[in-house]
This record gives sequence, structure tokens and C-alpha cells, in this order.
Amino acid sequence: MKKTICLFLYLFVAFTVFADNGYRLWLRYEPITNGPLLNTYKNHITGINFPGNSATLLAAKDELAMGLEGMLAKKIPFVNSVAAGLVIGTPASSPAIANLSIKDQLAKVGNEGFVIITTNSNQKNVTAIAANTDIGVLYGVFHFLRLLQTQQSLQRLSIVSSPKIKHRLLNHWDNLSRTVERGYAGFSIWDWHKLPDYIDQRYIDYARANASIGINGTVVTNVNANAMVLTKELLIKAAALAKAFRPYGIKLYLTARFSAPIEIGKLKTADPLDPQVKQWWKDKVNEIYSYIPDFGGFLIKANSEGQPGPQDYKRNHADGANMFADAVAPHGGIVMWRSFVYSSESPEDRLKQPYTEFTPLDGKFRENVAVQVKNGPLDFQPREPFSPLFGSMKKTPLFMEYQLTQEYLGYATHLVYMAPLFKDVLNADTYSKGPGSTVARVIDGSLQGHSVSGMAGVANIGNDINWTGHPFGQANWYTLGRLAWDHELSSEHIANEWIKQTFSNNKQFVDTVRKIMLESQEAMVNYMTPLGLHHIMGYGHHYGPAPWFDKASRADWNPVYFHKADAAGIGFDRTSKGSNYLSQYAPEVRSKYENISTCPEEYLLWFHHVAWDHKMKSGRTLWEELCFKYYSGVEAVRVMQKEWNGMKNYVDKQRFEQVRQLLAVQEKEAVWWRNSCLLYFQTFSKMPIPANYEKPDQTLEYYKSLSFPLAPGTGH
Ligand code: GCU
Repeated sequence: MKKTICLFLYLFVAFTVFADNGYRLWLRYEPITNGPLLNTYKNHITGINFPGNSATLLAAKDELAMGLEGMLAKKIPFVNSVAAGLVIGTPASSPAIANLSIKDQLAKVGNEGFVIITTNSNQKNVTAIAANTDIGVLYGVFHFLRLLQTQQSLQRLSIVSSPKIKHRLLNHWDNLSRTVERGYAGFSIWDWHKLPDYIDQRYIDYARANASIGINGTVVTNVNANAMVLTKELLIKAAALAKAFRPYGIKLYLTARFSAPIEIGKLKTADPLDPQVKQWWKDKVNEIYSYIPDFGGFLIKANSEGQPGPQDYKRNHADGANMFADAVAPHGGIVMWRSFVYSSESPEDRLKQPYTEFTPLDGKFRENVAVQVKNGPLDFQPREPFSPLFGSMKKTPLFMEYQLTQEYLGYATHLVYMAPLFKDVLNADTYSKGPGSTVARVIDGSLQGHSVSGMAGVANIGNDINWTGHPFGQANWYTLGRLAWDHELSSEHIANEWIKQTFSNNKQFVDTVRKIMLESQEAMVNYMTPLGLHHIMGYGHHYGPAPWFDKASRADWNPVYFHKADAAGIGFDRTSKGSNYLSQYAPEVRSKYENISTCPEEYLLWFHHVAWDHKMKSGRTLWEELCFKYYSGVEAVRVMQKEWNGMKNYVDKQRFEQVRQLLAVQEKEAVWWRNSCLLYFQTFSKMPIPANYEKPDQTLEYYKSLSFPLAPGTGH
């Protein structure tokens, strides 16, 4: 008997210490093991003065109680005393907060921000978490828990924080059938069949995770929209989701299929200027608001990749967007109209088309319309220059669209930390109002004085136990929220926060894993698409390399269209001598890229067709440099593997093993990318892979013969 109990206890301890399935994300609230620090926390926090019982404040209280109990290994009581360590609330909900002289600070933080300060009561340090609104309090509580999880001192706090961007969104490309377009972490977490009566705990945990990083909106359906979501039955289900999210400050949005009036409304047309069509949408919108009073609005993909849109009726994007805008405006809703368009009829360089279609419409959109722009001009490649629309549309609020799901970044099998990619674009200077007109200032609205601003991430979430498939995919979700809140946070800072909360505060672990993360994008660029190459992946599913592919129904879906390799060289000439895409940027940007000697080499083949023997800054020829980059990419993954292997003792067995295996797959696939791309490009350069490199172990024919009919992410 005794033995059985011992064995049980042993297994229990072993399981809790050594297994972590990743479900808790960065909200793990593990016991703090640093003894002296734990004591200071325990001495400081003896009770919580936190009156109020709105749904949002109750959510904050639950989170705080759970977090403190986990980290301090002790239940902290809610008390009436104001000297017990923590006082929390708004001036309206908490007399103790109303008594503090923090009016100036509160005046700065608006409707969503918070203040965390150290004050004094009866000679005891007290931490006050204050805000103007309940949601501000919830955000403040999450921030406070973050301070503890990352083991910060609670002495002399003076934090005044509010979001720089108003709409901080996830875009789910989830179909009603629960497949996820470009989803690599299982099926959709929205269980439409069991809604509205069954509220999965996942919805609450999803909302908690989002609120903890300030995400305040979610578009729950695919941009390639299904009109069915606008039928009564589905709207009632969506309303149940909205209700679950509401205490966490998260608004629900839907995608609208432009042809819905025909498909579910039995009208003969979806012409946005037709009075019956306008009325249909107004009625539909009123119906939506009757179920979801705080419905956020619509995200719309129109006249792109076969989706219906206003151009089907010889109308333009503004005509289409404004029709929706007029319908949602009386309810305070917004319309996010996507600029990701390119037409099969236009022979124009595909990269030029969004600018060509949208820039002339600047100033023609209603006030509650934002144009949502992908970070780069093409499509979420491992590296892209910033979209020229950020510099050209001055009168229209522009939302940033990033892709968290790794459609072109090795699916959920490759470790790539995207903060450096996101920051690169944010820091880019559009020069649209002179030097310093960064993309960050465009999208936070400050450059042009827009009050509507937004940042969205195409979600990488599915019903995998750890949400994102790859444990490190969680970091990209985390980054989106943190950067939308404050785009000035550095990639290093965000990585530190995430690692400490998700894994461990151990310095050696944090330093090593941060290094792996910070170097991961460059590694990927090098083994996939170095020197400005782009869009050379497999057709349709986008898995793996296929630079040779030339059989797509339209030219600009073919890798050969993008790399243009021939006997003379490689790369897409987008200068004034080529497609003149560069003319879409301000002169300062244009001239830097136009001139091959000032064009940063990381974008060389994006903008120039370059001779194989062109001398690079390193002294190597272009061909040699290409080899060097591809080989460095693979080497970098091998270094990541070694570094991760050294972390074994600092991380639970389950996640250690997952990452170890995934890195091995990444290494194998990096070799595949390198070998197949170099063998293929070699058929044009006719130059040898330098002898000091390991030789490709397969032939080009072998790589070309591979096919992947079961690659995930393409189901509808
Ligand atoms: C990419 C992706 C599509 C998606 C589209 C979009 O092209 O492959 O699956 O629908 O982007 O952003 O609309």
C-alpha cells in the first residue's frame, strides 16, 4: 500500500515537473523558485483590495487569484484593507483608487490603458493597478502578472501604459467545416456544431490569452468567405462566441461574402449601388446587431483570387466598401477592406496591382473604412520590402496585416520568430511626409492624424493541444499582441518576456533561446529565399521548394515568373528599365533600390536581374554568394539544434522533445530547400557548387519528382 502511494506520488511529481503540453501558453503561473524574490513578493502581497463585480472585473479577479496562487504557492485573500499590498480598480469601482492622486496618469491612458504605481499606506508599500475602465483594469492585472512571471521587482513601480493602436486583431482563416485555410495546427477551434449551447473552455482560454496581450478583436471566419455565416442559425452561434469573449474586451467580427445578397438573399444582383442590395445589407447588419450588440464589423476580400466583388458590376473598391460602411456606421462598426488584389487579366507586374487599384481611391472611402494591407507587396514571404501602399494612401486609415500562420515559412514545423520581420516593416521609412514617416507611424494613425488604426495577424491557432502546433509558434501570436499594443518594444524584449513566461527565467536558458529566436528568420531566409528571391515554393499547397514550376493556370502563380533565372542571370527587374514597380515608392526609397550598388543585397534579386558573375560586397560572385547563403542557412539550423540540445536540463521533457524533433525536420527541409534550389539554378548558371561544401545527396530530377497531395492547409 505504502509502496503504491509512493509510486503514485513519484509519478504525480514527475508528471507535473516534467510534462507540459503547452496548453497554458504564456499564462503558466508556475511556482517561483527564486527563494529570496519569492519572499519579497509574499511579504508585499498579503491581500488584494479589489471591489467591483462586473464580468470584466470578475475575470480579472479570477486571473489574479489563480496567477498569485500558482506563483506564490499560496492563496491570497481578497480583503477590505487598503494596506494589504494590492489595490485595484477604477475610480468608480474602487474608493481606494479614487483616493489616489493619479488623475494625471489616468488622463493619459484613455479607455484601455492602465497605471501601475507603488504608493504607500501605513508605511507599507502598496501596488495600485488603476484604469479608467474595467477592461483597462483587466489589462493592468495581466501586466502585473507578467511582471511577476518575468520576476521583476515590485519596488517603485511607475507604469503608465496605453495601446498605440486601436484595433488589435486576429484574423482566423477558419472555414465553417472546421478546416483552416493555411492552418497547420489542427482544425478550427470554433465548434460550430456544438454552438451556441456548448461553450468550450477553449473559448475562454483563448480570450484570456488574447486579453493578456491586449488583442481586442477577432475575425472568426475565412476571408474566402462563406455566405452561410450570415444566416440566422450561424449568427446565433457567432453571438454565443461574442458573449464568451465580451468580458475579455474582445469584439467579434465576421467576413462578408460580397455575393451574399444573391446566395442567401435571393436577389438577382449584388451591385453595391443597387438600392435593394444596399437595403439587404442594412437589414442584415441590423439583424447581426440584434444578436451581437457590440459586433465589430466586417473584413472583406473582394475581387481577389476569384472572390466576388464590386468590379463584377463595374464598380470600384470604394463603392463596395462604402456600402458596408453605411450599413454598420449607425452601430459604430467598421469595415476592413483588404488590398490584397491582383487580376488574372492584367499583365502588369503582380506586385504593382494593389497600388494601381487602390491609390486612386484614396479619399473616397467612408470614415469607418480601413484598407487592410499585407506587410509586403506580394504575399507573406520570409522577407519582403514594405508595401508601397503605406506611403501612398494618406487619406485612408491603413491596417497592417501580418501572417502568423506559416504558409510560406515552413508550416508549423519550422522555428521562426517573426518579431524581427514585423519590426523591419514597422521601422521602414516611407518618406511620404519627409524623413521619419515610418510604417509604424502610418499604421498607428499618428502620421496622417487618423483616429482609426489597426494591426491584424492571420492566426496560427488550431485545436492542437498547444494551440499553434510548434511550441514556438506561440511566440508569434504573443508578438502580434505586444507589438500592436506598443510597436516600439524591441524583438529582444518581447522574446525575453515570452521565454520567461512560457519556459523559464533561468538566465542561461533565456539567453540561449533568445539567440535562437533572433537568428531564426535570417536562417530561414537563407535556406529558402536568400538575396531577395521570393515565391519559389511548391504550387498550391506552398510546401517546400519548386523553383522550376511553370504549369500554373496564371503566370504569376509560377515560381519562374518571380525568379526569372536564365543564362544571363537571375532576379526580377523592377527598376525603371524593368516593370518599374519602384516608381510606386517615394524618390528616396526608389533611388536606394533602383541603383544596384546601393540596393541592399538582401533585396537584390527582388529588384534586379543580376548576372551570375556579378561581384558582391563579399568579393564573391553572385553564384558563389547564392551558394554561400543557402549553405549558411542550413548551418544556422544546425547551430540552433546544438543550442537547443544544450537546454535539456532547463525545460520540461515534453516540450524539449517536441522542439528537438521539429528542429530535426527543419534541418532536413532546409537541406531539401538548399539542394533543390541550387541544383535547379545551376542549370542556368552552369557554375559548380564550390568544392568545400557538402554535395547534394539527391539529383534535381529526384526533387522535381516529389509531390504532396496531402499537404495540410488547403481544405475548404
Ligand atoms: C494567399 C493564400 C490564400 C489566401 C490569400 C489571401 O494567397 O495562399 O490561401 O486566401 O493569400 O490573403 O487572401
